[in-house]
Amino acid sequence: MGKDVIIACDFASKEATINFLDKFTDVKPFVKIGMELFYAEGPEIVREIKERGHKIFLDLKLHDIPNTVKKSMAVLSRLDVDMTNLHAGGTISMMEAALEGLTRPDGTRPLLIAVTQLTSTDQERMENDLLIKEPIDKVVMHYANNAKIAGLDGVVCSPLEAGKVHETCGKEFLTVTPGVRFADGDIGDQKRVMTPSEAKKIGSDYIVVGRPITAAEDPVAAYKRCCKEFIG
Ligand code: C5P
Repeated sequence: MGKDVIIACDFASKEATINFLDKFTDVKPFVKIGMELFYAEGPEIVREIKERGHKIFLDLKLHDIPNTVKKSMAVLSRLDVDMTNLHAGGTISMMEAALEGLTRPDGTRPLLIAVTQLTSTDQERMENDLLIKEPIDKVVMHYANNAKIAGLDGVVCSPLEAGKVHETCGKEFLTVTPGVRFADGDIGDQKRVMTPSEAKKIGSDYIVVGRPITAAEDPVAAYKRCCKEFIG
């Protein structure tokens, strides 16, 4: 499994997304499409970006009863995405059903990655709102291990957790890590960040980078810098 940089295309419309992707002429980055763009433009935006030659991580974070998730994943696999995700909180049965739905008749399937606890959930919210009393680090590793038991390929996590996830779930279990910033860049609203080269050292498999590339004066140069630091 090769290391790669995934650009978070957090744009509100097809027009803004295509304008951005048009800047890339000699390279076709792996891109992440999230809920905002998908709900605004529908599955057509996925087909269009795929046709332009990009790999796609469809970040829709499914969480429902196993049967519904299974059927929805079957639809996503027909969209020919390369990676998609769900909430590990949906239980091992839901994750197993998702994998079943995602697997195409020829046995191939997109990578399936779990979200453990959202980074917007802290210890206090988890204890008070969700009544989960264990330390959050332990909960994150437990959910990661559940994803592994269900047969998933990896988890979305902070680059600071990537080393621990690999220790707990094995070297082959993928870590997809947002919260990446250049050493000389703005951290914006991210709290716990790492540079691409630090993420490489700690063993992240994929880094998800949004604004350091999308808001850069020269996004192609920023993307290439990211690749150079992370992949080498
Ligand atoms: O612009 P920035 O690099 O902060 O974008 C990071 C991307 O990763 C966004 O699409 C954000 O929603 C996503 N993400 C995150 N933290 C998580 C999970 C996803 O920043 N824990």
